[in-house]
Amino acid sequence: MSAASRPIGVFDSGIGGLSVLRDLQSALPHEHFVYLADNAHAPYGEKTDLYVRQRTHAITDHLLAEHHIKALVVACNTATAAAIHELRTQHPQLPLVGVEPALKPAVALSRTGHIGVIATRGTVASDKFARLLGSVRGQAQFTVQACNGLALAIEQSTLPGSAETAGERIAELLAQYTAAMGTFGTAPGQMDTLVLGCTHYVFVENQLQALLGPDVQLVSTGEAVARQTRRLLEAAGLLRSGPAPVSAAQRMRLFTTGDLNGLQAAAQRWLGLPAEACHKASPNI
Ligand code: DGL
Repeated sequence: MSAASRPIGVFDSGIGGLSVLRDLQSALPHEHFVYLADNAHAPYGEKTDLYVRQRTHAITDHLLAEHHIKALVVACNTATAAAIHELRTQHPQLPLVGVEPALKPAVALSRTGHIGVIATRGTVASDKFARLLGSVRGQAQFTVQACNGLALAIEQSTLPGSAETAGERIAELLAQYTAAMGTFGTAPGQMDTLVLGCTHYVFVENQLQALLGPDVQLVSTGEAVARQTRRLLEAAGLLRSGPAPVSAAQRMRLFTTGDLNGLQAAAQRWLGLPAEACHKASPNI
């Protein structure tokens, strides 16, 4: 197999990274992807830094050894914050893209100069996030909220049998956290921009927009991550040259360490993928 024809690896603690995979597949329509949802160990945002680093290394090693990936997208803000530096040191030859809350794009978009940021506790507490916030200091006012429980409720919303309860929990948490942050709107002093600093939150974008009103801008990172992935592959001469005559389920292979039905439901709902695209990951990860 030529280097360029190998798949791109993508992973997240669960289904959140599917929001990034969606942007990756539209920016890179000829590429093959292997997605690993670490559902059995989610949510990462409420685990220790050490735990998230260990999971990130185990998954990266697995994707390299079993799936011979040519590049890796860490489609999880929490894992990026905890482990991207170590990954870069350990795999200097591997094109590697992480995700981080889009503070700089938000500064460019905001008119009121007051920006809200929602993310997991792990991301918000990380040194990497502190440095990111420091890099835009003085350019806008930031109100940051850690949203414990939200990623988990979004995970559960795809599990057969728990969709309704999870939906109610999501509505409750969104209302509680956004109210705690202050007032959203376009009047002076109000937050007119909200950064979605966790890839799971993209899947509750519509609920957030309805809650905050149509004038508040929601900012996520999937498209920028897809562009960066394309740039890195191009620079490394690793872009696939043309479409391969394979089905969607062969081009996009999704694996889970947890519940297969939940991944199948999420993949169908958000990417239109058939159930055959989803598999159980090998038990030794
Ligand atoms: N989707 C992940 C992120 O972007 C993590 C959610 C979680 O597992 O807590 O941070």
